Amino acid sequence: MLQLYKYVRPAVFKIDPEAAHGMTIKALKTGALRPCSVVSSPILEQEIFCLKFPNPVGMSAGFDKNAEVIAPALKLGFGSTEVGTVTPKPQGGNPRPRIFRDPKSGSVINRMGFPNGGLRVFKPNIEKFINSTNKPNGVVGINIGMNKDQSDPAADYCALISELAPLADYLTVNISSPNTAGLRDLQQKDALADLIGKMMEAREEACPDSPPALLIKLAPDLDEKQQQEIAETLLSAKVDGVILSNTTLDRPEFLPEKFRGEKGGLSGVPVREKSTNIIRNFYNLTGGKLPIIGVGGISNASHAYEKIRAGASLVQLYTGMIYEGPAIANNINKGLIELLERDGFASITDAIGADNK
Ligand SMILES: Cc1cc2nc3c(=O)[nH]c(=O)nc-3n(C[C@H](O)[C@H](O)[C@H](O)COP(=O)(O)O)c2cc1C
Repeated sequence: MLQLYKYVRPAVFKIDPEAAHGMTIKALKTGALRPCSVVSSPILEQEIFCLKFPNPVGMSAGFDKNAEVIAPALKLGFGSTEVGTVTPKPQGGNPRPRIFRDPKSGSVINRMGFPNGGLRVFKPNIEKFINSTNKPNGVVGINIGMNKDQSDPAADYCALISELAPLADYLTVNISSPNTAGLRDLQQKDALADLIGKMMEAREEACPDSPPALLIKLAPDLDEKQQQEIAETLLSAKVDGVILSNTTLDRPEFLPEKFRGEKGGLSGVPVREKSTNIIRNFYNLTGGKLPIIGVGGISNASHAYEKIRAGASLVQLYTGMIYEGPAIANNINKGLIELLERDGFASITDAIGADNK
């Protein structure tokens, strides 16, 4: 049934992108969107951050901002889902329209600005999932961000860690969305080291016995010097992993003029190569010691495989699902099994960074 998306897509694309997203969330909640079966194979399984990932394909942050459809997303065949970005207080985000599609280039521009229900909506939703029976196999990451009106970012990140660390398989610190003023400045090395130090303390206090992994999500628009400084900072601060990457501020010439003129972060096909390049750089800069989740422009198994071979241990996607539909995780996993077998890898772990060796 999920493979029928190509027939439904023209109708979906007539609807405003944010309304279409709302309908997708509703369809997942009501069970209207369900796969026949989930693709699984030992060749795709990995243990990373002491967590068992049944396959490497995750749903990226921003799709399920309020943690409403964790189980349905995993049932689509994703091995993990990263919910959020959640901020401590609820906020409405930027004025609509704030999501724009360009189907011809397979891209999206968004300037959402973290609309979400805040902790008071997000936390009960996560607890409901954790306490549910018959949970699907898979890992749940929580992506955290600061409120728009917060002048002390560490206060928001630490408050979220105190509340959510006990409920998270892993935590992602989003300092790379282009739609919150000042957020990307937290990637500057001194600001980053200071923020990580405070967050590590908050995590230790919240979960002294079994702290969830702490990951940092970065922009693809960092120059080589910034990449080197950040890689050093992440290693010396002993964060557990890095997500590469968020959306880009680039506006390639080939995009239609009106679309290019929209403010916000660009995702999908045009960010793919940039994101793969930064994955390769970080893999080399960290000597392959820091697990990387690769995201940006993945819409098929070859794209996912390219990122894994460049150094990503896991991958995520969002825009690809808008264009390819809800069968995308299953389709990628099927294709990955074939590619791994074709190249003689006994396990996906053996393929990580293979192009750099
Ligand atoms: C509509 C939309 C909303 C997003 N919201 C978030 C968000 O809240 N937090 C975040 O870390 N990334 C967010 N992202 C970025 C994605 O998680 C991802 O990093 C980026 O889109 C690149 O991957 P893709 O090309 O597969 O979409 C959003 C992306 C889109 C398209």
